Amino acid sequence: MTHAGQEPRRGGHVIRGQGRAPGHHAGAATSGGLLQVEGLSIGPPPERGGRLVVESLDLAICPGEVLALVGESGSGKTMTALSLLRLLPDVFDICAGSIRFDGREICDMAETQLNEVRGGKIGMIFQQPQAMLDPTATVGSQVAESLRLHRRLNQRDARSRAVELLREVGIPEPEERARNYAHQMSGGMAQRIMIAAALSADPKLLIADEPTTALDVTVQAQILALLDRERRNRQLAILLITHDLTIVSSLADRVAVMYAGRIVEEGPAESILNEPRHPYTQALLRCSILEAIDDQLLYSIPSVTESGDDIVKGCRFRRRCTTADEHGIFEMCEQDEPRLSRYNEVCSARCWAVSCPENGTAGSGGPPPDRMDVPL
Ligand SMILES: Nc1ncnc2c1ncn2[C@@H]1O[C@H](COP(=O)(O)OP(=O)(O)OP(=O)(O)O)[C@@H](O)[C@H]1O
Ligand code: SF4
Ligand SMILES: [Mg+2]
Repeated sequence: MTHAGQEPRRGGHVIRGQGRAPGHHAGAATSGGLLQVEGLSIGPPPERGGRLVVESLDLAICPGEVLALVGESGSGKTMTALSLLRLLPDVFDICAGSIRFDGREICDMAETQLNEVRGGKIGMIFQQPQAMLDPTATVGSQVAESLRLHRRLNQRDARSRAVELLREVGIPEPEERARNYAHQMSGGMAQRIMIAAALSADPKLLIADEPTTALDVTVQAQILALLDRERRNRQLAILLITHDLTIVSSLADRVAVMYAGRIVEEGPAESILNEPRHPYTQALLRCSILEAIDDQLLYSIPSVTESGDDIVKGCRFRRRCTTADEHGIFEMCEQDEPRLSRYNEVCSARCWAVSCPENGTAGSGGPPPDRMDVPL
């Protein structure tokens, strides 16, 4: 996928979450939501062996809520998203867990039921839009087909609504463009076609995997405004996957941070973006705000090549974490993987340096009491 149109990261030290759905309490949407994922693990089928790429992941999204899933490349964001529609590549299976959507278990659905959900109640903007569009049909007919299938429009109405949708996502001369094929589209255009197709069936949930990476800044703003309008006007829930924390701050209610297949921090966007407690989230934010250190050098998270042992035992971030040494807890971090524990009423983190007895959230999986009194 091309990243040619990707915007450079922007500066600014305080990022505030602004994306509040009307009447929605940030951080309150952890149960009774539209989507509830519990204990989700994804990996190769057992007979093939190999390690899990997503492990014991919990997520919940309410109607009208935007949950941002962030984390570096390879952390498992796309596999999580694809699993929600049971569209994983052949090499992976859902190995454990439950995905409840609108009161029904996705993991138990037959293919026919799944096809009603895919592109119907759940719309998806894929990370590689050009690869996902059918090369043999015009882009207009692909959007119209979704309208006919899921909204039962007749051919004529479907075609005119398809053109309208292309206009809404900022395609110039939409009547003409509707007659084009995918190969005649730029990356940014293909991305907008995919957005139009994903919204065409009025889904209850939109999964948007890097929805604006190939777009220039004005079109990006237009798309973000459209998504915001959809969630406010008709309570569209959105799982937003992005590397761009500026987009997170403008649209998301809550943020879940992934590292090596695990959620390592979760909470309301405003808290996570302004006062992150997990060392990885803190590093991610430092990377994103063009923080100049040591005579204009940009901050980057120290990189290491992970071995199988890094995943099997201890905290997965330990070989890149400076906090562990600063607090003299590296041995503990190397031995045991921390649990995702609440550190205040609405936020959780998976880190020994954050868990401490005073907040009573370390739980039974926490370290022994004499090793827990570690200020952050
Ligand atoms: N088709 C595939 N075959 C084998 N491994 C895969 C495949 N797709 C993804 N993976 C592996 O699964 C893990 C999770 O990948 P995933 O695509 O979910 O990452 P991501 O967080 O979406 O990264 P990015 O930000 O680069 O899109 C990675 O280790 C990746 O190499
Ligand atoms: S558990 Fe230890 S290694 Fe892991 S993020 Fe926290 S301090 Fe760092
Ligand atoms: Mg991805």
